[in-house]
Amino acid sequence: MNVQHIAIIMDGNGRWAAQRKRPRTWGHKAGVKAVKSTLKACVQSGISHLTLFAFSSENWRRPQSEVKRLMTLFLQSLEKESPELLQQGVAIRFIGDLSAFSEKLQIKMQEVSALQPEDKRLTLHVAVNYGGRWDIVQAAKQLASMHQQGTLDLSDIDESLFNRHTCLSQQPPIDLLIRTGGEQRISNFLLWQCAYTELFFIDTLWPDFDEKVLQSVLVDYNKRERRFGQTSDQLNA
Ligand code: IPE
Ligand code: IPE
Ligand code: MG
Repeated sequence: MNVQHIAIIMDGNGRWAAQRKRPRTWGHKAGVKAVKSTLKACVQSGISHLTLFAFSSENWRRPQSEVKRLMTLFLQSLEKESPELLQQGVAIRFIGDLSAFSEKLQIKMQEVSALQPEDKRLTLHVAVNYGGRWDIVQAAKQLASMHQQGTLDLSDIDESLFNRHTCLSQQPPIDLLIRTGGEQRISNFLLWQCAYTELFFIDTLWPDFDEKVLQSVLVDYNKRERRFGQTSDQLNA
């Protein structure tokens, strides 16, 4: 099956560091390395879209020191890695409520989003201060505002229109969602978008994720039958 779009909940950085008796932030740093190698592996496998859950709308609830360290790491990684990624043909975009971030970080995200690789091979969508519920609410607000202004009739609202106002609506549908770190939950990631996505919960901690693990998930994915409500017989007819 042709895979166009993969989403990943990159979980397990803290436990990876704890296993090595290091602070959690050390795990986050190792997590950035795993992002780089995953991007390379995806480009090599011809995957055109990768959406990574980097910071959830609930992650602000972590100790202030960890949040601060994550913000610094985020800014530093964008500064350091974006030129090389551009060279590799990676366009970087962001989804989430970006208004909560520092001005410096917001400006950096705008700068990076404006960069267009000469030979685009993959678009990386980084989900930061993202929540699936927030996404649905912000879409509802857009429609409500259009209705209030008299530009939208209630009878025009359907799934397709609603979809157009959610994040990633202009991108190919998400074929598979991988969560590393062993937990089997969505943690408020792409609730609307993953209605028919194939889910993979794997024990590998995020810093250990690599091309080999990705390939083994893709092998499993190819064994699945995506029926979208139909029967197996219908698909094989
Ligand atoms: C995921 O790893 C990274 C972020 C949420 C930013 P965690 O930090 O959640 O690692 P664990 O789950 O505690 O091991
Ligand atoms: C989900 O991981 C968010 C990201 C990977 C960015 P968490 O570690 O925050 O998820 P919960 O809180 O354990 O569900
Ligand atoms: Mg976690």
